[in-house]
Amino acid sequence: MATRTLNRRQWIKNSTLVTGSLAFLSGSLSDAFASSSSHSKYIGTTETMSGEMIRRQAMADIKARLSANENPFGPSEKAKKALIEAIDKSYQYPMKTLQTLAEKIAEYEQLKAENVMLGAGSGPLLQAAVAYFGKMGGNLVSGDPTYGNIPQDMSEYFSTTWKKVPLTSDYKLDLDAMEKAIDEKTVLMYVCNPNNPTGTTVDSTKLKSFCERVSKRVPVFVDEAYIDYLDNPKDASVMECVRKGSNVMVARTFSKLYGFAGLRVGYMVAQTAMLEALKPYSKGGRSISATSGSAALASYQDAEFLHEALKKTTESKEYLYKILKKQGYEYIPSSTNFVLFPIKTDGKKFVEEMMNRGVSVRFWKFNDKNWCRVSIGLMDEMKVFEEAFLQIA
Ligand SMILES: Cc1ncc(COP(=O)(O)O)c(C=O)c1O
Repeated sequence: MATRTLNRRQWIKNSTLVTGSLAFLSGSLSDAFASSSSHSKYIGTTETMSGEMIRRQAMADIKARLSANENPFGPSEKAKKALIEAIDKSYQYPMKTLQTLAEKIAEYEQLKAENVMLGAGSGPLLQAAVAYFGKMGGNLVSGDPTYGNIPQDMSEYFSTTWKKVPLTSDYKLDLDAMEKAIDEKTVLMYVCNPNNPTGTTVDSTKLKSFCERVSKRVPVFVDEAYIDYLDNPKDASVMECVRKGSNVMVARTFSKLYGFAGLRVGYMVAQTAMLEALKPYSKGGRSISATSGSAALASYQDAEFLHEALKKTTESKEYLYKILKKQGYEYIPSSTNFVLFPIKTDGKKFVEEMMNRGVSVRFWKFNDKNWCRVSIGLMDEMKVFEEAFLQIA
């Protein structure tokens, strides 16, 4: 019981909670804590959705698409206008637009354009890291569960060993344990903050000192795909470490809060030598279309749009929390546009049943539990989710 109480306090102290979710802490979350608090019992993430199932979902007759962490409130009006206006000149390669975009990002981050590598989404930049570091073999350290792209592909397509470090009892990356897991064979440290699929963040001061220290031993890759969902992304980001000259790569994407998942624009910020090393494995900005490049330029740091999209995301998220609470379900309070919660049935079966009702969600299995991840959609989509969920919960 003492452990449970302490865990609950830690959670309140450490979490970046949206106010409405605090009430939930009086519920039965301790149960979920209990199963994750002992690392010695740790069995790791044993199951996630297969590529085949994700493809089937994408093709199915879906009424509520809540499986890919997209932002249904985007792209912004400015982005749409720029897209249309860019069509006439789209017979030209968009060198100037992309150079301007890189300069704008660099200026905002107080760095040089040479520190910025653009990509058609951040995925291709993550993939460049897979190829570059994967060729070194060795091992990669990351939290578990986390976003699989880099760790999974390095271990699947190269001979890199994936050292999975369990999360803390409140489902955050365990930075201390991750640092301890480094050995002489470690080629890369992967940090996803906020973390996908848990939606949790780590303390930014702690993360920055972690990056400073760890990057002296091994390169650190920080995936900040969801950083825009935090109250103050600038403070929470580890860009400062790049400014200080540390060997830290920061990946960002327009796919999430900017609503560009189908337009494909992302970027990576790092030391120029690191970007040079990654260059042979990426086409960089050359894969970005003129239209998408112009749209990104028009909406980058559009505070009003970002604020509105965040507000609507929070409204839908609060609605989801209410549905789950009403049905007696626990969930991990999320700083992002998706929520992970333990389910009572087999994950695969749950996802299939939801799909049969026109709702796409994802599942995970870790800490001896089945989990469902729901992306935040339009309010109407959350209602479709509710109707389906009530039938099978
Ligand atoms: C943590 C994380 N990083 C990177 C990506 C890649 O996104 P994109 O290639 O659309 O930028 C995703 C996509 O879901 C993600 O969740």
